[in-house]
Amino acid sequence: MDIKNILTKYPPSREYLLEVLHEIQEADPQNHVSTEAMTEVAAWMKIPLSAVYGVLKYYSMYSSAPRGKHIVRVCNSVVCAMKGGEGIKSALENRYPANTGTYPSGSFSVEFTECLGHCEQAPAMMIDAGVLGNLDPESAIAALNSLNDNTL
Ligand code: FES
Repeated sequence: MDIKNILTKYPPSREYLLEVLHEIQEADPQNHVSTEAMTEVAAWMKIPLSAVYGVLKYYSMYSSAPRGKHIVRVCNSVVCAMKGGEGIKSALENRYPANTGTYPSGSFSVEFTECLGHCEQAPAMMIDAGVLGNLDPESAIAALNSLNDNTL
């Protein structure tokens, strides 16, 4: 990935930081923004590296660690927990421990997150931008297995 090609599409201004980080992450084969990329962004925008890193860490949609091609976000908040989310979380944690790697061979990463904004479908999770709701442990695992099969 040539970060300069992305950077030069935008004026070298901090107001474009979110867009630039988004595009860099999208283009990255490991779905993250590396330290090298952050350093190039900081130099291009003439802002401290800590400012880039702070924004990256503030928004959960960004990652500074390599991730799988697909991002699976499992809701960890109260409405989903009350409607059976704890069972889903346990089943997925046993099979796919979050933040310990990608499964299999980089096809997806599992993240347990706060409310996804789809409480009406609780318990819910997202695969990239798609919402899956009214899940149980079996349907959640089936959705992830279909990622393994590349059928999603
Ligand atoms: S609490 Fe799970 S989507 Fe809102």
